[in-house]
Amino acid sequence: MTAILVLNGPNLNLLGKRESEIYGNLNLEEINSRLVTLGRDLNIEIRSNQSNHEGVLIDSLHEARTWAQGVILNAGGYTHTSVALRDAITAIGIPVVEVHLSNVDAREEFRHTSLISAVCIGKVTGFGWRSYTLALQGLAEILAKKKD
Ligand code: DQA
Repeated sequence: MTAILVLNGPNLNLLGKRESEIYGNLNLEEINSRLVTLGRDLNIEIRSNQSNHEGVLIDSLHEARTWAQGVILNAGGYTHTSVALRDAITAIGIPVVEVHLSNVDAREEFRHTSLISAVCIGKVTGFGWRSYTLALQGLAEILAKKKD
């Protein structure tokens, strides 16, 4: 069975409580549960993880190499700063989709730069929690194509 890691970075544990006008009302557990439900329809196992620590996110990506065929990643603020996360994405050699709840390109200038976009297979930004489900649908199609 295909398995996908959904990995969330710093501050995303506060979803639902944090700046809901920007990030929406759903908490991370609710988003993950929608992904598990969609995953069931697509015959994909979803495992999720969240950390506020860069090194833990990197460890989680390394570990995904051993069991996942793809990753959905919202790196939060590290998107804009982390060379180490970018290197981890290239190192693991499995497809990673960059996700953001908000439309980062319509926000502050510093959010317009992503250090990870160029090493991800694609990016979904600005659709709130649906950014994750859209990413899962896209990634599922790419992985299915790889299989045949
Ligand atoms: C975010 C956008 C980032 O700029 C920000 O630092 C976040 C959340 C998003 O999902 O819209 O923490 O990744």
